[in-house]
Amino acid sequence: MYNFDKTANRLETSSLKWMYPDVLPMWVADMDFDTLDIVKDAIKKRVDLGALGYTNTPDYYFDAFRDFWIKRHHVDFKKEWMIFSTGVVPAISSIVRRVTKINDRVLVLTPTYNIFFNSIINNHREVSQSDLIYDGKEYKIDWKDFEARIKNGVRMLILCNPQNPVGKIWSRGEIERIGKICYENNVVVLSDEIHCDIVTPGMEYIPFASVNDINKQISITCISASKCFNLAGLQGACVVIPNEKIRKLVNRGLNTDEVAEGNAFVYDAFSVALNKGEAWLDEMNKYVYNNKKILRNFLNENLKELDYHFGDATYLAWVDCKRITDDTKFLCEYLKDKAKVYFSYGEEYGVNFKTFIRINLATSKENVTEGLNRLLKGINLYKEEYKK
Ligand SMILES: Cc1ncc(COP(=O)(O)O)c(C=O)c1O
Repeated sequence: MYNFDKTANRLETSSLKWMYPDVLPMWVADMDFDTLDIVKDAIKKRVDLGALGYTNTPDYYFDAFRDFWIKRHHVDFKKEWMIFSTGVVPAISSIVRRVTKINDRVLVLTPTYNIFFNSIINNHREVSQSDLIYDGKEYKIDWKDFEARIKNGVRMLILCNPQNPVGKIWSRGEIERIGKICYENNVVVLSDEIHCDIVTPGMEYIPFASVNDINKQISITCISASKCFNLAGLQGACVVIPNEKIRKLVNRGLNTDEVAEGNAFVYDAFSVALNKGEAWLDEMNKYVYNNKKILRNFLNENLKELDYHFGDATYLAWVDCKRITDDTKFLCEYLKDKAKVYFSYGEEYGVNFKTFIRINLATSKENVTEGLNRLLKGINLYKEEYKK
């Protein structure tokens, strides 16, 4: 019904992703798929009105989030718990400033979304990082290390649920255990759930706040329609905080930081996508799943030295290149220059992940195939030049 083979030419649009001429970009977590016609129509309607002035956050924006999360994720986030923000990252930075103090520690589970580090360090807090353990099949929390860190000056955990870059859907047991340990040690959990609607067909993520009352009371959940419906450039999110005391604090912060008011398009675009976009989302997930299979088959046939961890969430692939290099920052630059394809390098997501690359698969299968051919060519050139 929808055509995910069709991608817009973004070269003339100052696109961040497509900023390197001649390079096929498979790095930043940004989609190339054509967004929904109903979203485009909602934006056009607003343009035709000719009134693009300041806009209050309408009630229907929060209704759309509430209805969607009830229907798709079986949790009732009350409207009075919700606050608009101009994005998940602006919210995270603001929340770090409000909920923690200078020099406090903020815990992350690495490898994790690189901008979490910026939000912590730029606000003069200290990053505490607990590396996930890979058992050959799955990434798991090192509970001993996690608990020791939580007890050692940590005031907040920033959880990526599901996890970018490894694509992990946290289990109910893991989410409950995180909540219990954090609650017992007075740690607030900021659960970034921006990737939650990009999952293997048939799979579901578990909202952190949904599992019990403890989790609800210590949680700040950031959700959005941006990542899954290709609306990131509109800049919007919804921050959900059941605990009144924390909500008041964060609300003050978001307003003081001037990130609590949206532009003239974001409310209508997000609302219509959430209200009427489920069929598009389901098809998009099938398409991304197929792209993951294309990647897996390609590596199995042509590049056996690379180990692909097939994650059930996100459109990102986490690939270990340890048999090729121990410096993927260098490798990614090399591939960009010599093979004209660009990936994200592992070290961005945690210091101990220097052998990994992250591949963005939210593009047409034609681009995926072309990108993989360029990867193969680039790796062969690299091996010739820097044979281990
Ligand atoms: C885990 C995670 N959180 C937040 C963002 C960005 O959110 P926003 O564009 O709403 O600031 C990204 C983008 O890649 C992400 O991967």
